[in-house]
Amino acid sequence: MLKDRTIVLGVTGSIAAYKAAELASYLTKAGAQVDVILTDAAQKFITPLTFRSLTHRPVAVGMWELSESFSSQHISLAQAADAVVIAPATADIIAKLAYGLADDLLSTTVLATKAPVIVVPAMNTNMYENPVTQENIGRLVARGFTFVEPATGRLACDTVGKGRMASQNEIVDTIGRVLGAGDMVGLRVVVTAGGTREAIDPVRFIGNRSSGKMGYAMAETARDRGAGVVLVSTSTLPAPAGVEFIAVESAAEMLEAVLEAVRDADVLVMAAAVADFKPKVTAKSKIKKSVPVQNLELERTPDILSEVKGKFIRVGFAAESENLLSNARGKLSEKKLDIVIANDVTVEGAGFGSDNNKVTIISRDGSEDDLPLMPKLEVADKIWDRVLSFEFGTLVDS
Ligand code: PMT
Repeated sequence: MLKDRTIVLGVTGSIAAYKAAELASYLTKAGAQVDVILTDAAQKFITPLTFRSLTHRPVAVGMWELSESFSSQHISLAQAADAVVIAPATADIIAKLAYGLADDLLSTTVLATKAPVIVVPAMNTNMYENPVTQENIGRLVARGFTFVEPATGRLACDTVGKGRMASQNEIVDTIGRVLGAGDMVGLRVVVTAGGTREAIDPVRFIGNRSSGKMGYAMAETARDRGAGVVLVSTSTLPAPAGVEFIAVESAAEMLEAVLEAVRDADVLVMAAAVADFKPKVTAKSKIKKSVPVQNLELERTPDILSEVKGKFIRVGFAAESENLLSNARGKLSEKKLDIVIANDVTVEGAGFGSDNNKVTIISRDGSEDDLPLMPKLEVADKIWDRVLSFEFGTLVDS
């Protein structure tokens, strides 16, 4: 996987810079050509000579040196890269990249490259958790950057928390994944997950049995194949690393988030179980059991798939307990979908809450692929394979 691949390794000014030396050494031994860029701040922690000795390659340290090749150094590095890895990445470089600043060799190289970019943050916990850093990470993830989440532990600033640079194994795994199965690199996908909750009063809601697992499997597999992923979720499962996560509760909130997220998306996957009805009135305070028995008046929720328009592939799910295929085909045409996933929720160990699923993938060209019971992650990969068989350039506005 790494043999003969060119990895541009950007090292920024963090105490974890010494760990980048081990990473450079590992990648070189695995057969990669490793071109290191050290920022000015990184050179306060570690010297170019260290990396030169480990990689047997020149080390780039500034914008204005005369490089051996005729073309500008940032352009030649950007073009040669199969992947750019920034490890450790400070809050400063993450902010610069999020806003497209280009004032040193590393930021200009990233701006000029078409290669996948892997960012490995390392910083103080408060800096990492600061909303502005999280917002910058979200922006980059949505643009297709891959993040390797920091670990929790004792930090150089003598506090305990999240911010330690991820382990070498995790970084190498991520590089392998991005280089190996990058058939979704450059695509932006929006996935919904979980069951919506429609409030009756501040403590009660109308909900359903969806756990979010199917949607999360769609999001995680797309991420692993190199896509930029936005996950709009009602689920209580922890947010997967490396995806932009938007927590919502009701169908109306999900609609609002999806409308915003699909603006520059290539694919929308509605794996969520969205309520079709909600209480007409939500009581402001908890309804007491002493009040006489009431009828709950319901009204329709917005149909998200019907409301969102645009030039992207539309994938819907149909969880059915009878007439599976005919009901699913009906949803394909009613909701103007490109693909509908007919989900047989009567099969033992499939559907709501389980780790496995039993589906038939039905496409608008009439093809139907009946899959056996299998893990939701594998189902998700099969669905992405089908999505990728569409010609993205020929899509028209829905
Ligand atoms: O979350 P898990 O526990 O892993 O379970 C997964 C699942 C069973 C929930 C999932 O695989 C699934 O089948 N999701 C669709 C549930 C469903 O029944 O949808 P539906 O038939 O009500 O709607 C059809 C499609 O329209 C769905 O893509 C739905 O997201 C969408 N929809 C529905 C209602 C609505 N108001 N707006 C919508 O966009």
